[in-house]
Amino acid sequence: MANKDPIRVGILYPETGVISTIGCSQIQGSLLAIDEINQAGGIDGREIVPVRYDSRSTPAVYATLAERLIVEDKVNVIFGCYMSSSRKAVLPIVEKWNKLLFYSTLYEGFEFSNNIIYTGAAPNQNSVQLVEFMTSNFGASVYMIGSNYIYPYESNRIVSDLTLKLPNSRKVAERYVKLDASEKDFQKIMTDVRNKQPDFIFSTVVGDATANLYRAYADAGFDPATMPIASLTTSETEISQMGSDVAKGHFTSAPYFQSVNSDANARCLERYRRQSNAICVPNMCWESTYFQMHIYANAFRRAGSDEIGRILPHILGSEFDAPQGRVRIDPTNHHTSLYPRIGVANAEGQFTIVREATRPVQPDPYMVTHSFGDWTQSPSSVGW
Ligand code: ACM
Repeated sequence: MANKDPIRVGILYPETGVISTIGCSQIQGSLLAIDEINQAGGIDGREIVPVRYDSRSTPAVYATLAERLIVEDKVNVIFGCYMSSSRKAVLPIVEKWNKLLFYSTLYEGFEFSNNIIYTGAAPNQNSVQLVEFMTSNFGASVYMIGSNYIYPYESNRIVSDLTLKLPNSRKVAERYVKLDASEKDFQKIMTDVRNKQPDFIFSTVVGDATANLYRAYADAGFDPATMPIASLTTSETEISQMGSDVAKGHFTSAPYFQSVNSDANARCLERYRRQSNAICVPNMCWESTYFQMHIYANAFRRAGSDEIGRILPHILGSEFDAPQGRVRIDPTNHHTSLYPRIGVANAEGQFTIVREATRPVQPDPYMVTHSFGDWTQSPSSVGW
């Protein structure tokens, strides 16, 4: 008789703490896909059942809960983590038990684990494009402000390296703030920004503190038309926290914005908004959690199991028509081919897309072959 047992998967995101707003969107992207899969008959008649814990935005809690999911709840696959510090905490756990982690967030690259599938942007899919865009439109003098942990340090290293190759480039400062930085913490930095007069600010501030940075910038009276903030993490979700008046004119580089013009995206957003519990603002991580769950379910169908030795060959090389476009899991490095885009925040709290790749860019997490211009950009229709 066919096995009709439910399939348990781990869902491990920050539901409380400084990253919880974005964590909520990651949970809801995963649950939307699970709902779609279950409504369509599950995986060969087997329902996916999420086993969900709150990581409290704390790496040590992530490690404990990842082990609990594996040892007590007996899951083979965990969908989880936003901050790179949390992925670094879960990595040794999934390697120790030989289980799989699907990681949906953009990150600093320079990592590979046979036990992780990375579906957010690697630096050659967001940082290269952002540096190219900002330096050609505003100039190559950059002021870096980040949260105090691994992703900002490493992302700043990459953006420094890319920027400092260019003529007349200058890194005027590299400052770090605590994860729960207040507007007052950023006000002091704005005084320094005024003195140093960069061409743009590169922000690697994450979570709830993001709104405080942009508010301090606005209160200091700076003008995004001449010295904007550029980011890889500021999404529609953070804009909803700070207000569109504060965000307007600042830039983000990401493979997905709600404003992506595709049928797959329109359908996905509509299905999400029809749900009674749709309480978050969709963003790049929401989309990544959504499509990675479908990739998992399709691979499970082909493998008949989510035990790593059986499912991994069916995940690697697999493709899915995601809201951003057709994505593919690279079989050599476990990262994903994605569509780089640059968006400028508009008065509606959305991004106007000012550049977008006309083909997917293969992931190069170690930045071995990257170069400016290696994404075929569509021509700008909005003045950039
Ligand atoms: C991040 O920590 N990967 C945003």
